[in-house]
Amino acid sequence: MLGIESSCDETAAAIVDYDKAIRANEIASQIQIHAKHGGVVPEVAARAHLEVIDQVIFNALAKADLKIADIDGVAATAGPGLIGGVAVGTVTAKAIAAARQIPYYAVNHLEGHALSPRLANDVSFPYLLLLVSGGHTQLLAVEGPGSYQRYGTTMDDAAGEAFDKCAKAMGLGFPGGPAIEQVAKSGDPEAIALPRPLKGAPGCHFSFSGLKTALANKLLKLGGPNVAPVADLAASLQAAIADCLADRTKQAMARFRFEFPTLNGEKPLLVIAGGVAANQYIFSQLYHNANVAGFQLSVPPAILCTDNAAMIAWAALERLEAPDMLNFAPRPRWPLDPNAKPPPGRGVRQ
Ligand code: KG4
Ligand code: ZN
Repeated sequence: MLGIESSCDETAAAIVDYDKAIRANEIASQIQIHAKHGGVVPEVAARAHLEVIDQVIFNALAKADLKIADIDGVAATAGPGLIGGVAVGTVTAKAIAAARQIPYYAVNHLEGHALSPRLANDVSFPYLLLLVSGGHTQLLAVEGPGSYQRYGTTMDDAAGEAFDKCAKAMGLGFPGGPAIEQVAKSGDPEAIALPRPLKGAPGCHFSFSGLKTALANKLLKLGGPNVAPVADLAASLQAAIADCLADRTKQAMARFRFEFPTLNGEKPLLVIAGGVAANQYIFSQLYHNANVAGFQLSVPPAILCTDNAAMIAWAALERLEAPDMLNFAPRPRWPLDPNAKPPPGRGVRQ
């Protein structure tokens, strides 16, 4: 299966075998292009995908030592995401499928993330997934392909987005998460009082925009990025985000345990995926909470955790019998759980 991913700022192509062997997993990052803007610019991203997508696919075929004639199916992220980039990936995939007369699979990017733990490890359904990246912050009960219960999502910004926007305000560059984690090492996480939005509230939703505003206000009060104690601010922000993620995940673990009781005292499974999972401070808090709640914890390797095309190919392999999807139009929004009630508030994320 050839997989193509282009929904944000990575142009990726991968080839995955039926037996889970990842024959190629190529990624062309646009980080350098977007760094000067301090974030991803959709139109710039779409053009950059268009420029490199053919070469990325050729590179994947070369890595796998395969020809296009050896491919049995082609899958692309068809949403949710930045629609210009999604269009580039899906049109390319459809063209290959039509020319080669092989099936095309329109994959939900979130389903790619949700099923990626099964590509990496011997993971069986059901499991609880915390997906934390620049675009998503969700808690999902994963029961099988196409079968999800969304326990919580963000009411505004994603956790990674909060890292990125705060890093920009503090003059730390893009992407903000790794920069903040680095600077925070020499800071005091208790130095600056920041709020913990929704901590202790019922349910499993998240909110990060108030935290971002609170950090911006403190930064201003302390004299701006050149004068303020940036290490303390970074450490305090990281601690606040970690605290919110840990609290909401604790709620979700309680609900999951109730809804999916295990047999013979077997431990239920919590999987963490997404770029923010790379943060050691956040990971250690989640690890601690999972232990206390009696959950096993699994984190796919970083290369499968952040945006990649192997997870897109794998999601299609999990749904090989799906009807042909050549007529499927890309979707900027595409919730995994169509029955999920939206959280209270505005600007609800998928
Ligand atoms: O999963 P990902 O590569 O792409 C998507 O957003 O889908 O996640 C990127 C996000 C960015 O917001 C980045 O700042 C954040 O993950 N991130 C981190 C760390 N590494 C990446 N956030 C906190 N700490 C990190 N070490
Ligand atoms: Zn993603």
